[in-house]
Amino acid sequence: MTPLPPSQFISDCSADSLGLAALRLKAGFLVAFPTETVYGLGADATSAAAVGRIYEVKGRPSDHPLIVHIASMADIEMWAREIPIYAIKLARDFWPGPLTLVLHRSDIAKDFITGGQSSVGLRVPAHSIALGLLNEFRKIGGLGIAAPSANRFGQVSPTSALAVEEEIGSYLTPNDLVLDGGTALVGLESTIIDCTGKNPRILRPGAITQRMIAESTGLSLEESTRDEDIDIRVSGSMESHYSPKAKVILGAIAESGEGFIALASIKTPVGAIRLAAPANIEEYARFLYAALREADLQGLARIAVLAPEGEGLAVAIRDRLRRSAGGI
Ligand code: TXA
Ligand code: MG
Repeated sequence: MTPLPPSQFISDCSADSLGLAALRLKAGFLVAFPTETVYGLGADATSAAAVGRIYEVKGRPSDHPLIVHIASMADIEMWAREIPIYAIKLARDFWPGPLTLVLHRSDIAKDFITGGQSSVGLRVPAHSIALGLLNEFRKIGGLGIAAPSANRFGQVSPTSALAVEEEIGSYLTPNDLVLDGGTALVGLESTIIDCTGKNPRILRPGAITQRMIAESTGLSLEESTRDEDIDIRVSGSMESHYSPKAKVILGAIAESGEGFIALASIKTPVGAIRLAAPANIEEYARFLYAALREADLQGLARIAVLAPEGEGLAVAIRDRLRRSAGGI
C-alpha cells in the first residue's frame, strides 16, 4: 500500500480544512468524505467533468445513477419536483440520516447524475464532517455533492479513511482530498426509498427500516419487487456487489484456515480465523465491511458467514451478505 502524499489526506477537519475541501470541489476535484453510513467519493453534482471523474476513479458504468448529498431539507426543492407529502415526512423524521429519497428530478439534476433516469436520489447525511463540508460548499455557491461509496465498482464500501486509501488512493490526483472522520457508525449504505409512486417503496434496505418508514408515513409500503426483479441500475442489483476477493459462503461453519464472521455468542470453530465477533446487530453492521476487507488483507480464500436473524437492520445485513456471496 503506497501512502498518499500528505496534501491529500486531511484528518484534522477544522473549519479551514473543510473550507479548502469545498474550494477543491468547486474547482472540479474529488473529495472523499466520511458519512455515518460509509465513506463517499464526492464531486460537484452540477459539473459533468467532475462527476465524470467519479466514474473513472470507481470504474463504474456511466448509466448508474449517483446520490446527490445536500446540506439540508430546504434544498430538496432545488433538485426535485412533485414531492409527495410522505417524502417530506420521511425527510423531516430521518434527515440528517441514513436515508436516500428517490424523487422526480428538477432541471438541475442532469443525465450525468441520474444515469438518464427521470428521478434523482437525495440525502442529507448525519455526520458532522459531511455536513460541515456541505455547508461550506453551499456558502461558495455549491448546490450539492454527488457521492457514491468510495470503492471501486463491485467492491466492498469503505468504512474508514484508510479503507478509502486502499480502494482508490492510487486513482486520485494530488489535488483530490480524503477527509478522515474515523470509523462510520452505521457501516452499511443508506436505505433507498422510491418516492415517485403513490406509496413509498424500498429499493435498498438499510438502517431506516421498513417499520420506521411505515410509522413515519402512515402508509403501507408498496410491495418491493424481489431483489432480482429490481431495475439493473438500482443499487447492488448486479451480481457480485459488495464483494471481497475471498469467496463468501453463507450459512456455513468455517473450516480450518477459513475466515469466520458470526455474532459473538457463536464460538469460533477450531482453526478458523475469526474476522468479527459483533455483540449485537448494530455492531454486526458496523464491523461487517472491515471484516470482509481484513479477509483480503490476510489473503484468505474463503469466509464462512452466519448472518443475523430477525427484522430491522438484520434485513439490510442479509441483503448485503447475499450480494457479496454473489447470489441473489
Ligand atoms: O449510504 C449511502 O447511500 C452512501 C453514502 C456515501 O451516502 N452512498 C452510496 O452510493 O451508497 P452508491 O452510488 O454506492 O449507491 C447508491 C445507489 C446506486 O447504486 C444507485 O443505483 C441508486 O443508489 N440510485 C441513485 N439514484 C437513483 C435513482 N434516481 N433511482 C434509483 N436508484 C438510484
Ligand atoms: Mg456503492
